[in-house]
Amino acid sequence: MKKILMALGVAITLFFSVMALANATAEVEQGATEGQIWSQLKDGAQGVTTSTGQAHNQLINTYDLRVFELRSELLAPALMAALFGMIIIFILFIKVNGISKLHGGFSGKLVYRWSKFDVSIHWLGAIPCLLLILTGLTLLAGRFFFQPYIGDSVWASMINAAKLIHDYMAIPFVIGWALMSVLWAKNQMPKMYDLKWMMVVGGYINFGPFKGKHPDAGFANAGEKMWFWAFALFGLVISASGMLLLFPNVFEPSRTISLIALVLHSVSAIIITAFSIVHIFMATVMSEGGMECMVSGYCDENWATQHHNLWYDEIKENGTLKYKD
Ligand code: HEM
Repeated sequence: MKKILMALGVAITLFFSVMALANATAEVEQGATEGQIWSQLKDGAQGVTTSTGQAHNQLINTYDLRVFELRSELLAPALMAALFGMIIIFILFIKVNGISKLHGGFSGKLVYRWSKFDVSIHWLGAIPCLLLILTGLTLLAGRFFFQPYIGDSVWASMINAAKLIHDYMAIPFVIGWALMSVLWAKNQMPKMYDLKWMMVVGGYINFGPFKGKHPDAGFANAGEKMWFWAFALFGLVISASGMLLLFPNVFEPSRTISLIALVLHSVSAIIITAFSIVHIFMATVMSEGGMECMVSGYCDENWATQHHNLWYDEIKENGTLKYKD
């Protein structure tokens, strides 16, 4: 009996060992095959699909590898610098310079500046824009700057979520961008007095010859105008190139045009990101009382006279000055 049990034990052990070995061999073979397929795809291997569109039979584009180098060596670090570099510069600047206080304090009287519709279209463009910056950064630079420091599964979920959010946020951003660019342009035309504003950096520098300066400004000052036109122009480039990349089946771009769109999209993103950081710091921290404009649409009367004196004089003179009840 003992011998039979021992023989049975050996037989069972042998059976499971052979099964485990067979499984391991199959996994190694499968791994090797997957590895081969992956390296063939990376080399630009082509297959067969039912689609007849240009390049639909090639999963990974190897058309012009210079674009990959440009992305990893220049565009990705530049986008990181535009976001984190600008944040660091602004924090240091505020530490050294301080913020721009309202000299007369808050008057408590709120002057009408933006309609409810204006405030809505601002946030319709701004919130997707911020999400696009963060997810775009993950898509362009994440592989080099985040992936090495986080686990593979976290990275896989992160890049998947980034792609999804980036695709969906594109639509409200384009609508917000188009409405702001068209409806606000008339208040953003350059004027001669904008040059003087720039020479004293808008009076935001709290030391040296700039201290205490209050240069003339209309509805928008020179800094806001620069931001507006950069946003309008690069918003156009980023929107057009983005639509081309998002809907390749509709626009059927050639490989060359796709790659040019990819590069223009990244360059515009770098410029918009750097400007956005400056804009957000100016609105939230730097200019005391500025944020109220994009919350209620009204600004404090002392903020209006200090930062937009010509606009304030104009609405007072033509009778359109309206206070909040
Ligand atoms: C947390 C983020 C943001 C805050 C707190 C903010 C705040 C503001 C404020 C207070 C104004 C009105 C300035 C004034 O009345 O003179 C404004 C204007 C504007 N914002 Fe934003 N904004 C933000 C993000 C963005 C983003 C991401 C975009 C781009 C889509 C954007 C585009 C604009 C434009 C084009 C203007 C008009 C030009 C100007 O006055 O500077 N904003 N924003």
